[in-house]
Amino acid sequence: MPTETVYGLAGPAADPLAVAAIFAAKGRPRFNPLISHVADLAAAERIAVFSADARRLAAAFWPGPLTLVLPSQTGSIVCELARAGLDTVAVRVPAHPTALALIRAFGGPVVAPSANRSGRPSPTSLAHAVDETGDRVAVALEGGPCRIGLESTVVSLLDRPRLLRPGAVTREEIEALIGPLAEAEADAKRSPGRMARHYAPNAPVRLGADAPRSGEAYLAFGPHPPGPGVWNLSPTGDLAEAAANLFGLLRAADLSCPVAIAVAPIPEVGLGEAIADRLKRSAGYVG
Ligand code: TXA
Ligand code: MG
Repeated sequence: MPTETVYGLAGPAADPLAVAAIFAAKGRPRFNPLISHVADLAAAERIAVFSADARRLAAAFWPGPLTLVLPSQTGSIVCELARAGLDTVAVRVPAHPTALALIRAFGGPVVAPSANRSGRPSPTSLAHAVDETGDRVAVALEGGPCRIGLESTVVSLLDRPRLLRPGAVTREEIEALIGPLAEAEADAKRSPGRMARHYAPNAPVRLGADAPRSGEAYLAFGPHPPGPGVWNLSPTGDLAEAAANLFGLLRAADLSCPVAIAVAPIPEVGLGEAIADRLKRSAGYVG
């Protein structure tokens, strides 16, 4: 299913067989839990326990690219496999009409990890999603290119608020509402998604490159002469445009079979924090 962030591999959150098929299609380790997608706050409260901070964030950013990790609700129908056995659940309301229509028509929570195979760049178009996991799905819903292009921001509200994954809802926007965010814990059980090499193309990725070396593909940012082997994330240096282009251009550059993909320096403020996070992981840096 399309969402405003990336395409997801969707299935009923309550059905362990469907959820197992999703883990298998992605080749995803079963200790890494899935996000449950719901249509509104009322549906979210049937599967998660909301604190005052959680309500504030949901009111401000849903529908939208923000996932909240909260205590699992008593009697929740989300199956244990979807939560990877944790007593917590990740939940979000996507801001894409097709996703919302699917969730409403289905009438229950829908798990949807990004539709890439585990460790690969997330798909931001239906064609990319079909390339990744299309052989394993019953139906593929066209929803156009993803407006945001990076996965949702993930915030854990279990003890102190923590930023588990930066995204289009920025740290600054969240902190303005609920105060300072702690960093993700080293504890892999609480932040199971923070594995080092992730979002990776086949070619190695070299960051902070002012220019390509011989044989390298180049992802430029800001004014740069066009040419063979050069893809520009945003000629005007716009972070939202760069985010929307990032995974698609990593794929395009990769298809040219370069010795490496060199990426221009990108400012790490606002949305730049999420871009830098994905780039560091695609390059295999421990985050
Ligand atoms: O934008 C998105 O969030 C996309 C679209 C399709 O909605 N989905 C997505 O799902 O990115 P996925 O599975 O690729 O990433 C979910 C992230 C993982 O890093 C996972 O570890 C984390 O959320 N997560 C899920 N449940 C969690 C939990 N109970 N505690 C901590 N982290 C959790
Ligand atoms: Mg993913």
